[in-house]
Amino acid sequence: MRFYLDHAATSPLRPAAREAWLAAAEVVGNASSTHGAGQDARRVLEESRERAAAVLGCDPIEVVFTSGGTESINLALHGLWRSRAAEADAIVLPDAEHHATMDTVSALSAEGAAVRAVPVDAVARIDAEAFAAALDGAAVATALVANNEAGTINDAPALARSTAEAGVPLHLDAVAAWGHIPLSFRMLRGEAPPAAGLVAMSVAGHKIGAPVGTGALVVARSARLSPLLHGGSQQRGLRAGTQDVAGAAAFSVALEESAKELEAESVRLLALRERLIAGIRLAVPQAELLGDPVDRVPGNAHVLFPGAVGESLLFLLDMAGVAASTGSACQAGVAEPSHVVLAMGRTEQDARSALRFTLGRTSADADVDAVLAVIADVYARASGPRSASRS
Ligand SMILES: Cc1ncc(COP(=O)(O)O)c(C=O)c1O
Repeated sequence: MRFYLDHAATSPLRPAAREAWLAAAEVVGNASSTHGAGQDARRVLEESRERAAAVLGCDPIEVVFTSGGTESINLALHGLWRSRAAEADAIVLPDAEHHATMDTVSALSAEGAAVRAVPVDAVARIDAEAFAAALDGAAVATALVANNEAGTINDAPALARSTAEAGVPLHLDAVAAWGHIPLSFRMLRGEAPPAAGLVAMSVAGHKIGAPVGTGALVVARSARLSPLLHGGSQQRGLRAGTQDVAGAAAFSVALEESAKELEAESVRLLALRERLIAGIRLAVPQAELLGDPVDRVPGNAHVLFPGAVGESLLFLLDMAGVAASTGSACQAGVAEPSHVVLAMGRTEQDARSALRFTLGRTSADADVDAVLAVIADVYARASGPRSASRS
């Protein structure tokens, strides 16, 4: 038996998204072609954009379909920074962002961007005052809505307000939050001035049951953004290239389904998560929950196992059929300490000893039971002088 507790890395494809994906893949035609076949594809695409926009809380024209979180973040940060580079150069960057953001900002710093780091607190929450203080004259600011490792939910409305007041465009990375907490681009944007405040928001399809390779960057109508890809004039000229009609159809269905289920799923996953955390603490009294104990995405349990080697914990759990993560999947396999745990003020040893369990749509009691049945033994073995490891 296999037990999947890594929904934050990627979540299983929803049957309805699969159906919409396959049906739209049968539509012959390039959505940019003017003939009937092209127009058939265009209808499916634009209907998907409208459905996506209704859930995301924006106008259809503000939905730019992308290949997922990494591309959306790259487009937002390159695009916003480049469009403002003549007037301002600084990027406001909180310390515990996803690598897609951190590495994009490093690339921009090689092009001349100045980076203004903003600390997070002991639960990985962005310090909203320090964030506001760093905004003066900045070109662009970025922030996670919820931290993908610690699960902590940031005060996104406050961050958006401070950027609107400072006249700085803000990108929000909603990849780890979308589908887990109620969010609306329009509500977060509020009455911000045309090119400031929240202007761009990233969402990834595969985190909510759409296929890998789907997602969107919501870009406010009034935002100034340079494209990353050059070519055709698709999607307001912001993302050139033949559009993925089937991906858009599947993504819009996954957005709708996850929105419909959000309330009930939050309650269900929270109960499962609390049972998981309580059970781990009972089996391993040294274990400590990281991140905010209350204000976190419902399916996230980020747990520190003091003295254990994270990679060994992962390996031993995998041997028992349990899939978890040491943090962001993009870093798994590279035995680096978690920059998120370090940013929370923990030691390098702690930053190598945390595990992230994430529950989602297909999670059930059996998944929690599977972890609890083995965790004490796994911890003991991963803490020994020659702890088990893949390498
Ligand atoms: C918060 C956050 N941002 C961005 C990404 C990257 O998204 P994608 O895997 O769709 O490229 C992830 C993926 O783990 C994430 O959790």
